[in-house]
Amino acid sequence: MLIKRSPQSLVLPASEITPQAVYEERRRFIARMAAGAVAGGALWEMANREAFADVPAQKLAAKPNPAYAPLEKQTPFKDASSYNNYYEFGLDKDEPAQTAHTLRTRPWTVSIEGEVKKPMTLDIDSLLKLAPLEERIYRLRCVEGWSMVIPWVGYSLSALIKKVEPTGNAKFVEFTTLADSKQMPGIGNRVLNWPYVEGLRIDEAMHPLTLLGLGMYGQTLPNQNGAPVRVVVPWKYGFKSAKSIVKIRFLKEQPRTAWNVSAPSEYGFYSNVNPEVDHPRWSQASERRIGEDGFFQKKRKTLMFNGYPEVASLYTGMDLKKNF
Ligand code: MTE
Repeated sequence: MLIKRSPQSLVLPASEITPQAVYEERRRFIARMAAGAVAGGALWEMANREAFADVPAQKLAAKPNPAYAPLEKQTPFKDASSYNNYYEFGLDKDEPAQTAHTLRTRPWTVSIEGEVKKPMTLDIDSLLKLAPLEERIYRLRCVEGWSMVIPWVGYSLSALIKKVEPTGNAKFVEFTTLADSKQMPGIGNRVLNWPYVEGLRIDEAMHPLTLLGLGMYGQTLPNQNGAPVRVVVPWKYGFKSAKSIVKIRFLKEQPRTAWNVSAPSEYGFYSNVNPEVDHPRWSQASERRIGEDGFFQKKRKTLMFNGYPEVASLYTGMDLKKNF
């Protein structure tokens, strides 16, 4: 792993825009590299490049949903698929695109369990057929201060939730993602306690905006974008949108989510995009659009709920500074 920087990431020093744990792990990694430990990584790469075949991208027929078609320039596919946060595949933005070919996306199952009347395990083909596929163009705003506009393919997560019939006790939904050191070279790093776990309150999960993402740009998800199935929660910071999900659990209590456990003062459970609540180490008032806003260009203003005001009623009466 080299610390290569694409022009977009030259905006702020890494120490300012990067979660502290990631920044520190990166420094430890550089130290290990200097000590010659990189040979292990190279061996891993050689062994695994042979072991896993890439699943070719498959075209997905999806009907554009006019309710989610903002008049905004879409991020080029090239940028959306090469500037990624997927720490199981490395800490730098360009790494997942280089290393995630080892992710085996078929066969793949998602087990749905906990407080539901009909627990079930669904394979990826059943998920692709569970509801009509739509194309929805959503903004994704990362907590680090960059954003993209991506045409996702999927359907409202609520379609899946209705099928499993949550019990009256189901107050939260927990998403657990794959953690397999044989497929994921980044699992060895100590940034987070793997697996990557995220969660939503049940009414957030049931909101029509919350998407079960199965593709983007008219085809199945690239591995680095969370193949074969992820969630996309566009009014929340990007880390709430868990990639490569293997388990969905309905719970009475709020789940312990990976970033919240790792740095509770920096990453709240709610993590709604909110320009008025700064991250302890940087402002959240503005953002840079990947593939569009250059180094010297003025940043654009970040909008409350990332420009999705229809979710505001979910938080009536809540202090969003306390529940950040
Ligand atoms: N899901 C898993 N399993 N692992 C991760 O590291 N990163 C999150 C989120 N989902 C992440 C994840 C973060 S920080 C962001 S900003 C988005 O994925 C990025 O999604 P994208 O690469 O498709 O733009």
